[in-house]
Amino acid sequence: MKVLNSLKKRSPSQISWEQIINHLEDGVVNLDQDGKIAFFNEAAEVLSEISSAQALRQPLNQIFKREPWLIDLVKKTCPPRQESARGEGDLITRWGRKTPVSVTASPLQDRHGHFLGTILLLRDIKHQKELEEDLKRADRLVMMGTLSAGLAHEIRNPLGGIKGAAQLLRRSIDEHPSLREYTDIMIREVDRVNQLIEQLLDLSRPPRLTLAPVNIHEILEDVLLLEGQAVAGKEISVRKKFDPSLPPIRGDRAQLTQVFLNLTKNAFQAMERTGTLTITTRLETDYHVRDQGSGRSRFIWVDVADEGAGIAEEDLPHIFSPYFTTKNGGTGLGLAICYRIIKEHGGLIRVESIPGKGTNFKVSLVVAD
Ligand SMILES: Nc1ncnc2c1ncn2[C@@H]1O[C@H](COP(=O)(O)OP(=O)(O)O)[C@@H](O)[C@H]1O
Ligand SMILES: [Mg+2]
Repeated sequence: MKVLNSLKKRSPSQISWEQIINHLEDGVVNLDQDGKIAFFNEAAEVLSEISSAQALRQPLNQIFKREPWLIDLVKKTCPPRQESARGEGDLITRWGRKTPVSVTASPLQDRHGHFLGTILLLRDIKHQKELEEDLKRADRLVMMGTLSAGLAHEIRNPLGGIKGAAQLLRRSIDEHPSLREYTDIMIREVDRVNQLIEQLLDLSRPPRLTLAPVNIHEILEDVLLLEGQAVAGKEISVRKKFDPSLPPIRGDRAQLTQVFLNLTKNAFQAMERTGTLTITTRLETDYHVRDQGSGRSRFIWVDVADEGAGIAEEDLPHIFSPYFTTKNGGTGLGLAICYRIIKEHGGLIRVESIPGKGTNFKVSLVVAD
């Protein structure tokens, strides 16, 4: 009897289905015959930023009114078709945050095939999308790098010829000072093109990193000191949310300073007059972000978040591309350089932006062992 009792205690039947489904990583939503929400698990709450109390007994098209694609998917599961359907799309929260999800919608039927409702399975595919995007971007950059390196060499040779000829010309027209002005312009402009080509080549050459254990907080403090004047005349405050127990990371101090200088510069530029720049550091605890291959390394994250204008959705895919800029007099090189340096460090760079609200650039780096 005793044995039986102790067995009974551990029996999995004591864990209810509801508990199990509530703890799944995927969102599970059950709709009744009328399309009203009958069940909404915890993952669905997290994904939609809607509590189960708010969602229950409400019509699906009320709760997901920003997701017409999802409603179309559910329609396929209803009579007369009663088919399963799959799709991908964004869940958009009240605050405008978007999470890409994949959805499987299946009709729920009794033994006689009578329609009882719909089951929705929602899976967060943000990390998967980001990794795919990363690969595409890396490919594009390698291609651009090869292309521009070739082109740069082709341009450099004739430029050298032009400059040499202009210098000779200048010497032989010494007695006509008014003409010297023209040769000087030629030489100056050739030097300028050379400088541009140098930058282009810099971008296509992987940086030579000197890796050593570095304290990321020291780098960030340096950057804030250097960028301090940039906020003069604006009402901008800086909030530091540093985790004091953060271990040192493996990195190149000068290059990483460059990365965070570029990011804070952009953040300050995005805030016209007022706002807060928040820099947060933390140890990575979410292990889904990476694919395999990062081994046993531990990572830290640095968030550089502003309350500026945000980035338009159609611009987001381009911001890391060299020469993409929306600023008068911008070079469009800042983020391309950040991307390349972080990549060489074996880290990740991510962006989340809500137009009108602000932007958060997130950088991960490897902890020094
Ligand atoms: N913090 C930010 N807020 C809003 N937009 C940004 C931010 N950072 C970058 N961007 C966008 O990305 C573009 C590229 O940035 P970057 O490579 O640094 O070049 P640049 O600053 O010279 O324009 C910017 O022109 C801007 O449109
Ligand atoms: Mg910039």
